Amino acid sequence: MTSLSHPGESCALLGSLVERIDVGIFAVDRTGTVALWNRFMAVHSGKSSSEMLGQNLFAMFPELPRPWLEKKLESVFVLGNNAFTLWELRPYLFRFPHNRPITGGLDTMRQNVTFLPLRTPGGEVSLVCGTVFDYTETALAQHSLHDAIAALNKEKDAQAQLIVKLEAAQNQLLQSEKMASIGQLAAGVAHEINNPIGFVNSNLQTLKKYCEQMLQLISTYEPTEAQITDSGLLSRISNLKQALDIEFLQEDLPALIKESEEGLVRIKKIVEDLKDFSHVNESEWQYADINAGLDSTLNVVWNEVKYKATVDKHYGELPAIECLAAQLNQVFMNLIVNAVQALDESKGMGTITLSTGHQDEWVWVEVRDNGRGMSDETRRRVFEPFFTTKPVGKGTGLGMSVSYNIVQKHHGRIELTTAPDEGSCFRVWVPVKQAQAAAP
Ligand SMILES: Nc1ncnc2c1ncn2[C@@H]1O[C@H](COP(=O)(O)OP(=O)(O)OP(=O)(O)O)[C@@H](O)[C@H]1O
Ligand SMILES: [Mg+2]
Repeated sequence: MTSLSHPGESCALLGSLVERIDVGIFAVDRTGTVALWNRFMAVHSGKSSSEMLGQNLFAMFPELPRPWLEKKLESVFVLGNNAFTLWELRPYLFRFPHNRPITGGLDTMRQNVTFLPLRTPGGEVSLVCGTVFDYTETALAQHSLHDAIAALNKEKDAQAQLIVKLEAAQNQLLQSEKMASIGQLAAGVAHEINNPIGFVNSNLQTLKKYCEQMLQLISTYEPTEAQITDSGLLSRISNLKQALDIEFLQEDLPALIKESEEGLVRIKKIVEDLKDFSHVNESEWQYADINAGLDSTLNVVWNEVKYKATVDKHYGELPAIECLAAQLNQVFMNLIVNAVQALDESKGMGTITLSTGHQDEWVWVEVRDNGRGMSDETRRRVFEPFFTTKPVGKGTGLGMSVSYNIVQKHHGRIELTTAPDEGSCFRVWVPVKQAQAAAP
């Protein structure tokens, strides 16, 4: 620090500092008359100190926020405390031009202004000194910071959307992986069960024949009992007959065999479903008429439908589409059978609406029923293998997962609209040509 020997020298230095410093410095008395106006103020306002000294500040700068500034100055005069104005709240006090574009083009210098009380040796505030700091650079930096934050937020939003998409893609992947492994399992199980079913079925037929023959033999023997004279033998026969409850046995044996046969038919159906599910029975790709396929499928299941529902058809004109026709028919069959099974018989005949249509390179088939509809949980799980709400023995819960897989294989999709008591509507979309099948 330089030490100053004469007070006059220090005053001169101070005056020179006030004049040259890169901060605006001015002072006014209580009437607003200018008592100090440094070079910074002169350069930026275009008004020299000789023009300004002795003039009223508000008269020289009509753009100043007069009521606000007068109040501010008065408070410094009265209270003797510093006061401030910050550029964030009030961008500027003096409208000084500035060559740095803030929002493009010429803009006004951003300013922080401090008002300091200057006292007489008696302690009275005689002048208020204002210091004007140029904050334009900071403002510019803050603007670009805001822009950068906005850009970052935009990117963050885009990333969040991407994450949602990724999650959906991952779920789909998991779903198809699950389908694939369940498919392998199903194929294995179907294969393993097929052989025993074969011999159990054939043995059961033989057993049935043997039983019939034995029962025939017994009924032929029966009348000869009257001719038996050996009373010991007679009583043994009669005791045995009683112990075995032979009459019940004769009645129950054919019934047991019949039930076992029905059980086998059900097992066979499950194995067939499992095979279809795992695509064991691949067939040929061909061009087929979907409307005709739908009609022939309806014929196959007509017996199930005719007493429970009327069928409304609204077929559009469709191009032949490249498909595994037999498998698509199986999808239609599963949908129609489910629709029939969803009808509430206590409400009389239901309605099943079959519609088809064509849009760009896609064909759709819709199966709608006015049955029970589905709860949220059922709707979520309907395509899950083995998911069924039907009683034991009625549904295997594979119909929809088989259908889902078949439609996937055609690069198509299934849309489902349903609500409890409002019926269900399945719409199957498949591309006309497989080569062009892009994700819908
Ligand atoms: N049209 C529909 N209306 C109401 N619920 C339905 C409909 N279609 C399917 N569901 C529900 O989805 C479940 C699964 O259907 P899915 O066809 O896969 O199996 P399932 O019909 O129970 O048995 P199956 O293997 O014999 O077809 C059904 O048990 C039923 O709860
Ligand atoms: Mg079904």
